[in-house]
Amino acid sequence: QSLADYNTFGFDVKAELFVEINSVEEFQELLHTPEWNENQHLILGGGSNILLTDDYHGLVIINRISGTNILEEDDKSVVVKCGGGENWHQFVLYTLQQNLGGLENLSLIPGTVGAAPMQNIGAYGVEIKDTFHSLEAINLKTAKLVVFFPDECEFGYRESIFKHKFKGEYLIASVSFRLDKPGFHHLNLDYGIIKNVLKDKKIENPTIQDVSNAVIEIRQSKLPDPVEIGNSGSFFKNPIIESSEFEKLKSEFPEMPFYELEEGKIKLAAGWLIEKAGWKGHQENGVGVHQRQALVLVNHGEGSGKDILNLAKKIQDSIHSRFGVELSPEVNFIST
Ligand code: EPU
Repeated sequence: QSLADYNTFGFDVKAELFVEINSVEEFQELLHTPEWNENQHLILGGGSNILLTDDYHGLVIINRISGTNILEEDDKSVVVKCGGGENWHQFVLYTLQQNLGGLENLSLIPGTVGAAPMQNIGAYGVEIKDTFHSLEAINLKTAKLVVFFPDECEFGYRESIFKHKFKGEYLIASVSFRLDKPGFHHLNLDYGIIKNVLKDKKIENPTIQDVSNAVIEIRQSKLPDPVEIGNSGSFFKNPIIESSEFEKLKSEFPEMPFYELEEGKIKLAAGWLIEKAGWKGHQENGVGVHQRQALVLVNHGEGSGKDILNLAKKIQDSIHSRFGVELSPEVNFIST
């Protein structure tokens, strides 16, 4: 089975064994089969945050668990539960149709609902941890369905317990969010660019739909659509450094964008560093650095996962020698 349609880079690697699961029960049954027990396995959602460099010698599982329903509600908010296999943006659109606030800044992020908590997806000043209520996950060893509440997920910047301590131990079956009812929406307009788009459109009292439209417009103007050009969104994380280290950089590059975090730490813009080092728009071996957003590596059609890996290493080395900063990948490298 080709995985070309199951990773947004569009790399045509093969999976030895392949199965789509549509429910918790189907997956629990799979856990008792020889296919599962005798092979290594890889669980995929939308394939929007992975780099496949080789054929996968094992079992690839596509999570297709679907369905959306309301778990509980009070005067101000509603807890909505969504199947892990649902498309993230379709779910965001559904919440907007219901006039429920909280996810509008996260419009148009590729991938599935089940993959979202893995790396605590975030954009334009909002992360899913801000509205996250709980999730249900199937333990791959015991086949039991377990509930995780926010404290147990250890969410951080593009991080959760599912990328670390519990890596490869669970399949995320559903995710629930506490969303605001009409009259109780809290817009997050901290990101200047959203304010600018709304101002250009002369929108003075924006609704959640207006914010979503602005985010969609911004993303479409900067980020390549994976359907047209293979990519995985931001390839690297924005590096976090000590303020002492930052002071030295700042004196050399006064125009460098930065964001102050707690405990004297500073977050830098990896896209700016990569652009400054001259990589923006660079192409080699059918892969390259996106023209409009240097943090995004792209497959122009002829490249392979290995070509992306080589390019990523060169960029990391270049950023290290130029700025003394380590870039760590945001996408997950898959190898067998
Ligand atoms: N910048 C450049 N050159 C570039 C790209 C960016 O100079 O080629 C500068 C921008 O001018 C700006 C700063 O870098 O001053 C930050 O850029 P931007 O607001 O575009 O966001 P980002 O830090 O590059 C992050 C997320 C994105 C998310 C946006 C908006 C990470 C790794 N990436 O990108 O997430 O959409 O903020 O919130 O945190 C993703 O994870 O796949 C993703 C697209």
